[in-house]
Amino acid sequence: MKVLSVVGARPNFMKVAPFIHEIQRHNEANEKLVDHILVHTGQHYDPLMSDIFFERLGIPRPDHNLNIGSGGHGVQLGQTMIAFDELLQEVKPDWVVVIGDVNATLSCSVIAKRHQIKVCHIESGLRSFDKRMPEEINRMVTDSISDLLLTPDTISSDNLRREGKPEESIKFVGNIMIDTLVKNVEQAKLLNTQEIIEANRFKNLSVVQSAIEENNFGLMTMHRPSNVDDRNVLLSIVETLENKICPKLSIVLPLHPRTEKQLKTFGLWERFTQISGLVLLNPIGYLELLKLNTEAKLFLSDSGGIQEECTYLGTPCITLRDSTERPVTLKEHGGVSVLVGNNMELVEKYFNDFLTKDRQPQKPALWDGNTAKRCLEAILSFQD
Ligand code: UD1
Repeated sequence: MKVLSVVGARPNFMKVAPFIHEIQRHNEANEKLVDHILVHTGQHYDPLMSDIFFERLGIPRPDHNLNIGSGGHGVQLGQTMIAFDELLQEVKPDWVVVIGDVNATLSCSVIAKRHQIKVCHIESGLRSFDKRMPEEINRMVTDSISDLLLTPDTISSDNLRREGKPEESIKFVGNIMIDTLVKNVEQAKLLNTQEIIEANRFKNLSVVQSAIEENNFGLMTMHRPSNVDDRNVLLSIVETLENKICPKLSIVLPLHPRTEKQLKTFGLWERFTQISGLVLLNPIGYLELLKLNTEAKLFLSDSGGIQEECTYLGTPCITLRDSTERPVTLKEHGGVSVLVGNNMELVEKYFNDFLTKDRQPQKPALWDGNTAKRCLEAILSFQD
């Protein structure tokens, strides 16, 4: 059997790693081999956004790189489709496996179906019910045409049932990103926090940024259009960091290239980089962020994956979004995260609450480190 997996952007890499390792394990123990082909669309291309994850997570070099790079959504989606269409005329897999909800997920699933190739969607059924998010459209389109829908939790399976997806196409397999976390967390804990900070300090800053105390810092990431594409919203976040948060707790923030670009465009860069107590880093590797997350007092983020990692590690998480496709991570479902959108009063309120909270690690069903095994079993046992 020939299986082709697609990755495009950073959050895909930690999800494909355990799947590839599972195929390698399968091939060592079985005569019927799975021939695996890895395709990188090239949406994320900076070494710090891409190569470092391949190296550290033991992902083999992609067999094909479509080199799409940055661009508007139309350019990214369209160019990925053109390049993947050409590739599929050459490579004819039995399955195309797409992961998560980035642009590569949508483009490649659509083209695979045009070639009448079976599509498996790992991390299927997540819904924010907010179609302003590009990822929601990517998830909905991909799920509507995929043959095998592998879900991370039962809420996602129920979403698919409600949409009328055939029962036999839905399989609850658990959270594949947690496989990577389980495998790497002990190794990550051995890293040294100060060394991570010093090795990754943000390039070329004109101000000298403060040091952090061990176990006494918060973490932050942000890159979503809803937070960084509107000047007033971004300004309110900068002001909240400056006046309400950083005076009480140092915040370590690995900066996404999109956020850097927007801060500069909106003339907020100088002010932002001079916030006392804010420690800016370049985008950092998986193990490094994992180590910092095991120590952070709290996390402020608009990422999807970080809500899940915080849930597993028990780090209180303030999610700078109006909605989430991962409700299982919310406090009301037993998780650790609260949604605050762009409401800076709520950010301040939860920040003060969480400052004194202890970690409460949670393990939703099948977040057990064995999801990749169940994914491969579902593909191998699929009946047309
Ligand atoms: C993409 C995903 C998002 C995911 C995020 C993680 C979609 C629709 N969005 O958003 O779901 O949470 O990745 O990072 O697929 N850039 C670089 N170097 C890079 C990559 C990006 O400089 O290697 C800059 C470019 O200016 C680019 C911008 O970041 O225009 C945005 O990158 P893009 O890949 O379009 O989307 P993300 O915001 O990263």
